[in-house]
Amino acid sequence: FVTQKPALLEKNETALPVRAGCPEITVVVPCYCEAANVRPLVDALTLALAGRDWEVVFVDDNSPDGTIEVVRKLARTNWRVRGISRIGRRGLSTAVIEGALSSSARYVAVMDGDLQHDETRLGTMIDALTSGCCDIAVGSRHVEGGDNSGLANVWRHALSDGGIRLAQMILPVKLGDPMSGFFAFRRDWFVNIAPRLSGAGFKILMDIILSAPEPPRVEEIACTFKPRLAGESKLDIMVMIQFLGLMLDKMFHGWLPIRFLVFASVGAIGVLVNIAIMNVLRLAGMEFAIAQSVGTLAAMLINFWLDNTLTYRDRRLKGTRLYGGLFVFLVVCSVGAWANIGIAQIFQQGGQTFDKASAAGAVIGVVWNYAVSSTLIWRR
Ligand code: GDD
Ligand code: MN
Repeated sequence: FVTQKPALLEKNETALPVRAGCPEITVVVPCYCEAANVRPLVDALTLALAGRDWEVVFVDDNSPDGTIEVVRKLARTNWRVRGISRIGRRGLSTAVIEGALSSSARYVAVMDGDLQHDETRLGTMIDALTSGCCDIAVGSRHVEGGDNSGLANVWRHALSDGGIRLAQMILPVKLGDPMSGFFAFRRDWFVNIAPRLSGAGFKILMDIILSAPEPPRVEEIACTFKPRLAGESKLDIMVMIQFLGLMLDKMFHGWLPIRFLVFASVGAIGVLVNIAIMNVLRLAGMEFAIAQSVGTLAAMLINFWLDNTLTYRDRRLKGTRLYGGLFVFLVVCSVGAWANIGIAQIFQQGGQTFDKASAAGAVIGVVWNYAVSSTLIWRR
């Protein structure tokens, strides 16, 4: 151990000894707007993992509250603290994957950055891995001794239970708490699975288990899920829709183009909105052409909003890029609409029925919109 050069430190900073080589355990903490929770978590880990060889990696998605700055401040004097700052991307699952891949340690543990997970159980989870009895140790609220009182309300409890039922139907292993975001595994085991992960949504544990070439050996460790003290939960209705997407993706072994299906469903919603508004305005005495134009514009706006918050949630546009994106979207959809009508006419003149011609036009329209949206508007 050597001590950091004083010249690199600011006044009133004292450095912990710096070490050579990587530690044995990496704790990966995905965080978004958790500035107030970073320091308490590092303190809690320092207590819980005393006597073990560990580091913590905070994976932040450019939180507006300056989470990464707090991490960097701590990292200046404590080599156990690392940070990954991702810009222009969002997502709990991909944050966990990238944090785990940044590790060279023997073991990786994953936990939330909001102090809801019981860090005192980490040692038991690592010991389970060391004993060789499992590939993955899961902090579980639904085994003897576990507790789930930290879920905010009845609604969250009902959702959680529903999700668990659904997950258990397709899981190849027995698992009381497949929704857990608190677990640990051997890094070399994970690295083999990583290329197969889908990375969508909140439920990375499900993703890992369903992507493993063979059903993993799972050990559940009883845990308490504590109430959140600072900040707020990022789980919302869009996250749940994404969870359904992940389940479908895994059930169809990845060959179902989930993003395209979501995009097409959003498009279908747009068509319904268009028809509804057009009818209401017609009843109010408006001319068809104007009523239809207003309906179409409203549909495009709603589609843009849904695509930005759901279909391309991980590449969501904000600020000025939002307006640029909206402009391109309106242009692209208008072109798509003309292509739709044109193709339908060609098919119809070629002797197809009106229904078939119309369907062909719609398919071409949605494929065009999707292709351009994915490459020009919400590009990677
Ligand atoms: N980097 C990054 N990017 N982190 C994120 C993002 C994101 O887009 N969204 C959420 N997080 C972080 C949060 O800051 C927090 O540390 C952790 O992921 C969990 O998010 P919460 O918003 O606190 O989720 P929750 O409490 O509703 O859900 C948790 O509880 C579930 C059990 O009911 C999650 O841990 C789930 O994984 C867990 O299964
Ligand atoms: Mn939480």
